[in-house]
Amino acid sequence: MNALFTRHSVRQYADRPVEEEKIETLIKAAMAAPTAGNQQEWEFVVVTDPEVKKQVAAASPYAGCAAKAGVLIVPVGDPASCRFPECFDADMAAAMENILLEAVHLDLGAVWLAIAPFKDRIANAQKALGLPENVIPFAIASVGYPADPKAEDGRDYNFSKVHRDQY
Ligand SMILES: Cc1cc2nc3c(=O)[nH]c(=O)nc-3n(C[C@H](O)[C@H](O)[C@H](O)COP(=O)(O)O)c2cc1C
Repeated sequence: MNALFTRHSVRQYADRPVEEEKIETLIKAAMAAPTAGNQQEWEFVVVTDPEVKKQVAAASPYAGCAAKAGVLIVPVGDPASCRFPECFDADMAAAMENILLEAVHLDLGAVWLAIAPFKDRIANAQKALGLPENVIPFAIASVGYPADPKAEDGRDYNFSKVHRDQY
């Protein structure tokens, strides 16, 4: 799967909006992810309003790039209402990764910006997005047209990290 091997974090974006059809496809990609017991506990907050983007970007000291993204997609959910709450983070992470990969397929660039499990970032993002206390914003998928579409960093695949049969 080419998108998987060409994906890299994109934190600088062209001043160009992301089309609604593409946003919908990104959400569908997130919803196509596996969840424990198929519990599908996620909901998604889509942010295109510049002022709200700014507030979400300020929720974490490491999310500045979100202010200039075309769109932010924030998977949110209430772990307490899940059948398998222990799997909440894994479920949300799978949705996040699907967004990042589909972004590549749509000629977009994206980066995962951590919110959970940091309590201060969760509180900040809840405030920015008008979420009730029980609804946890998991992370920010910051998405846009890359400022430099050619920029790519190659990864070294280190097979000494692979263990056969026994560690
Ligand atoms: C759980 C997680 C949290 C991350 N949080 C941040 C973040 O807060 N800010 C940021 O700029 N990048 C964040 N990233 C992106 C990583 O820095 C990036 O994936 C890593 O450096 C590897 O680079 P690549 O995505 O280009 O392969 C996060 C990635 C993951 C998986």
